[in-house]
Amino acid sequence: MDTETLVLTDLHLPGGRVADITIRNGIVSHVGSSEPADTKISCSRYLVLPAAVDLHVHMRGGNEQKQKEDWTTGTQSALAGGVTVVVDQPNTIPPLTNAASFHTRLFEAKTNAWCNFAINAGVTADSDISGLWKSGALHFGETFAGPSSYGEAVSQEVLSRALSEIAGLGGLASIHAETVSSGKDSDLFSHHALRCPDGEAEAVRLVHHCNGQHCRLYFCHVSSGTGMDAIRDAIIEVTPHHLLLSLPGREPADTRFLVNPPIRPEYDRKELWKRWNRIDVIASDHAPHTTAEKSGDFSSAPSGIPGVETMVPLLLAYMTDKQIPLSDLVAKTSYNPSRIAGILPAGFKPGNRADFALYPHSRTVVDPDLLHSKAKWTPFEGMEAVFPEVVIRDGKVAYRDGSFCYHAPHWISGRGYIPETRIE
Ligand code: DOR
Ligand code: ZN
Repeated sequence: MDTETLVLTDLHLPGGRVADITIRNGIVSHVGSSEPADTKISCSRYLVLPAAVDLHVHMRGGNEQKQKEDWTTGTQSALAGGVTVVVDQPNTIPPLTNAASFHTRLFEAKTNAWCNFAINAGVTADSDISGLWKSGALHFGETFAGPSSYGEAVSQEVLSRALSEIAGLGGLASIHAETVSSGKDSDLFSHHALRCPDGEAEAVRLVHHCNGQHCRLYFCHVSSGTGMDAIRDAIIEVTPHHLLLSLPGREPADTRFLVNPPIRPEYDRKELWKRWNRIDVIASDHAPHTTAEKSGDFSSAPSGIPGVETMVPLLLAYMTDKQIPLSDLVAKTSYNPSRIAGILPAGFKPGNRADFALYPHSRTVVDPDLLHSKAKWTPFEGMEAVFPEVVIRDGKVAYRDGSFCYHAPHWISGRGYIPETRIE
């Protein structure tokens, strides 16, 4: 049992009260006056927020994709952006579709991660869904109801069968919903037209049609009002890039903005903000590719944007400017994702998970050279952001002034996992 005590002093609580918070064993144990501590951190010059849980990251790694990112760089990037839990997506090479590949992935993550993590299971025609569930997969997906980089679309028949099986297990299926029209995909504008909002809505309707057994659904990276309006009774995820970026003014062949679903006209970006209250989760869809891969011809460049490190810093600056309550940011990046992942919420009350990020009251701009991902590029370059100076994970200082100080990651398993079957 870890008996170290950390006290955060002079912390401004959401209601305006200033208090000291005592943390033991990774949990908030006392809020009020100061208690004896092994370590004290004064928060008087910080905005302290519960750390984020990013339900949608592609950590890459393995032998085939480690040039894009690996668990060390990806999770350090997360921490440096105020994210202490990441959920990895299964469109790895090879895809994560059986217990053996799950255990290999788990070993890689446990050895190299710098933040806490969960791993999702892949849904393809020959996935071993119950084997993945028993191995500890958190959710099923992202399941490709439309094709993307490293994700082949599943057929209606496979999707129906998979949703029915996942429903039987009591699991949650996360879905990448897109319809792709044929045509020449030669720049950002045609990319949007070929994967248009109506196509997103059509894919959502198809998924509902295939879900006769009422599997719990989570729609990833919803990118348009039309798409969102087609969703019934499901969790809705939106990304920072769809909330903050749009097509006007872009160089048509700039592959840094090439992503699925696409960056859209300003109209669609605004339609997402009009539906702000329907958004349950903001997740980054951190999908790094190398500069060399992104430098090729537009039609052959991979889609995807790195974003785990910039997600909260960008939204913090943007939402402060627009006077959108920061409690919404905390709900969509921390509280709701924690509930969906089945973990304690991070927060300021006794019994809460003691994961926090300490943000200064000053801003910087996003500089790709200062980010920790292997992708030394970002479509958010030059945008205003507030990066955390200190990040606390499990009640320990995990990141401070650019240094990573606490390794020991925790794996968050799904509900199908029985510890005795665990392969260490
Ligand atoms: O643009 C994308 N890239 N969208 C996805 O859904 C997958 C991702 C990737 O893994 O590169
Ligand atoms: Zn996706």
